[in-house]
Amino acid sequence: MTRSHVNRTERTALVTGATGIIGKAIVEGLANSDAIRVVPTGRNPKKLSSLYPFPSDRILDGLVLDQSSKDSIVGLASQWKGPLHILVINASATPTKREETPEGIETQWAVNVLGYHRLIKAFAPILVRSSEEIGEPSRIVLVASCWAGDLNLADPEFKRRPYDNGTAYRQSKQAERMLAHAWAVRLQEQYSSFSTGPFAGCPRITINACHPGEVNTPLSNSLGFGGHESPAEGADTPVWVATARELSTITGAWFTYRNRSVCRFAADTESVQKLWDLVETYG
Ligand SMILES: NC(=O)c1ccc[n+]([C@@H]2O[C@H](COP(=O)([O-])OP(=O)(O)OC[C@H]3O[C@@H](n4cnc5c(N)ncnc54)[C@H](OP(=O)(O)O)[C@@H]3O)[C@@H](O)[C@H]2O)c1
Repeated sequence: MTRSHVNRTERTALVTGATGIIGKAIVEGLANSDAIRVVPTGRNPKKLSSLYPFPSDRILDGLVLDQSSKDSIVGLASQWKGPLHILVINASATPTKREETPEGIETQWAVNVLGYHRLIKAFAPILVRSSEEIGEPSRIVLVASCWAGDLNLADPEFKRRPYDNGTAYRQSKQAERMLAHAWAVRLQEQYSSFSTGPFAGCPRITINACHPGEVNTPLSNSLGFGGHESPAEGADTPVWVATARELSTITGAWFTYRNRSVCRFAADTESVQKLWDLVETYG
């Protein structure tokens, strides 16, 4: 039996930022995929229940998650019941003025970088357990952006330089792409590979980053952009990275419009290590 002939058992996916334009389209795209049940999450319970009013066998009850809060992330993971096979981290913020979370962390750094990092850390044990149950790698998909760069590790929270939401956004999206690479290495070290079965030698959890597409959303508007693609087009690459059989064992990669390419940020291993050391200091 080849890997492509492994029968798909029912899998569970969690999507963050499911109240957003692309997030909702990702939820719908996953729910329309083969044998996947989706748990939408969002920070605003009213918005969540108005967008997902009727749980079904495909889209389950929404759960509250504030991605800027370590307690919220750790709390959701500790209360998680059952398996989780796909984690799509999509929620991002880009306030036009500098803001801090109740933890005292600049909002974009908290949501877009620490939130991504903390979610991976909190859910990795659940993802690895679930991968063992179905004998297939679990997947983490980081929704990042082509619009990325100028990461300043000496002042990531804009404490010593003027805040600009575009600059803060670009550095956060660069950091997400670097984290995909850093975590790919560490997840494989920490959890080793499948020792038997059709995925013998393959990682138990894969993690990849992708650009969704140019979609007109509150986030793109707050950065001064519109967007010429539909939400479904924006969700296409994240859903594909989360589900495509041919990507079952690919990890640490960067995708735009279903194309894999070298990410220059992830290739800078010295900076990736520095970023890792920095995010770890936040706990
Ligand atoms: N739109 C584009 O053209 C484009 C291009 C490249 C990359 N992206 C990426 O696509 C992803 C989705 O963005 P979008 O364009 O769909 O924007 P959006 O519609 O504004 O959605 C942003 C989502 O993030 C959520 N969010 C913000 N702060 C949060 C927090 N503290 N906790 C939990 N959720 C929080 C928002 O929640 P609320 O609903 O409560 O506000 C919303 O669900 C982002 O990662 C973005 O960087 C978008």
